[in-house]
Amino acid sequence: MNSNIQILPVQNSRIDTVDFNNLPFGTLFSDHMFTCDYKDGKWQNPTIKAYGPIELNPSAKIFHYGQSIFEGMKAYKDADLNTLLFRPLDNCKRLNKSAERMVIPQIPEELFMDGLKKLLEIDNAWIPTNEGSSLYIRPFVFASGNGFHASPATEYKFIIATAPSGAYFAGKVKVLIEEKYARAANGGVGFAKAGGNYAAQFYPTQLAIEKGYNQVIWTDDTSHEYIEEAGAMNIFVRINDTLVTSPTSDRILDGITRKSIIQIAKDNDIDVEVRKITVKEVVESAKNGTLKEMFGAGTAAVISPISSFGFKEQDFDLPELNNSYASQLKKRITDIQTNKTEDPYGWRVQL
Ligand code: PLP
Ligand code: COI
Repeated sequence: MNSNIQILPVQNSRIDTVDFNNLPFGTLFSDHMFTCDYKDGKWQNPTIKAYGPIELNPSAKIFHYGQSIFEGMKAYKDADLNTLLFRPLDNCKRLNKSAERMVIPQIPEELFMDGLKKLLEIDNAWIPTNEGSSLYIRPFVFASGNGFHASPATEYKFIIATAPSGAYFAGKVKVLIEEKYARAANGGVGFAKAGGNYAAQFYPTQLAIEKGYNQVIWTDDTSHEYIEEAGAMNIFVRINDTLVTSPTSDRILDGITRKSIIQIAKDNDIDVEVRKITVKEVVESAKNGTLKEMFGAGTAAVISPISSFGFKEQDFDLPELNNSYASQLKKRITDIQTNKTEDPYGWRVQL
């Protein structure tokens, strides 16, 4: 480790105020955060200090032009209390892909990994050990430089904050296939984890919630004939015994859970097709009984089975299967993540 991180530990930990048996998702924060400033053309001042407010000028460009990107990762503990990460370098690479698209300076891999490892060392006791819980990690970078000129900032902050978390969704997930709004367009920033992508999802999602759904199934922006993502998750559809997922593109996030699930499914003799999925085939297969499962996959939500979907004022229920692909694949990936099984892929990283 040679990032020369300044460590300013808290005097009094808040950990005793946390009920680790009843964790919400992403609203309780660990004692410390990692921060680093980009100034005069370089990253400097890497520090670990108390999680808390940061001071920004009202003209900071993040407030006006939304120049911000983030990642989502998790840390786990195994039965021997080792600290584990899942494919962390993939998150770093994707952060830098997002950074390039949003004209944010690249984060050196060493800085990302050193900051993360040191933070997890200091806040190690915050990593939950209960099944289904983990430490959700949120690395993010935003324009802290000032000015109303609509151009990239010259100063940025890179922060890693963490939150011991339980399940992202409570209960069944009911989705609405979107016919009007889009989360992303060709040539746009859908493939990047840019903050504004999520803000733009809130309004259509709110309309869906008002109709009794939890999430929107995003369709392509031009024809709305193809399903692309499930809220902030990649989408998988099982028709008969074939698992289908949309190919990544300008509009679709290249999910780490998605690509891991594709690999695991193939290695467990599940037929996988990576191809465009039409709304029409989903509706028709729901009608003729060949639609067996739909689920979303992502770091926060892991694998979330969809219990029903709405389209053109009609709801279609999915069957409740024993030994579903969703449950098999969720078990396999979480067993790898938490060291309950061999990791033939080298995805698990022990700190
Ligand atoms: N799609 C979107 C839009 C997301 O925000 C996420 C979450 O990160 C995903 C898919 C799933 O990606 P991953 O599995 O890398 O978390
Ligand atoms: C994740 O799955 O980690 C994400 O970043 C999605 C987020 C919007 C909760």
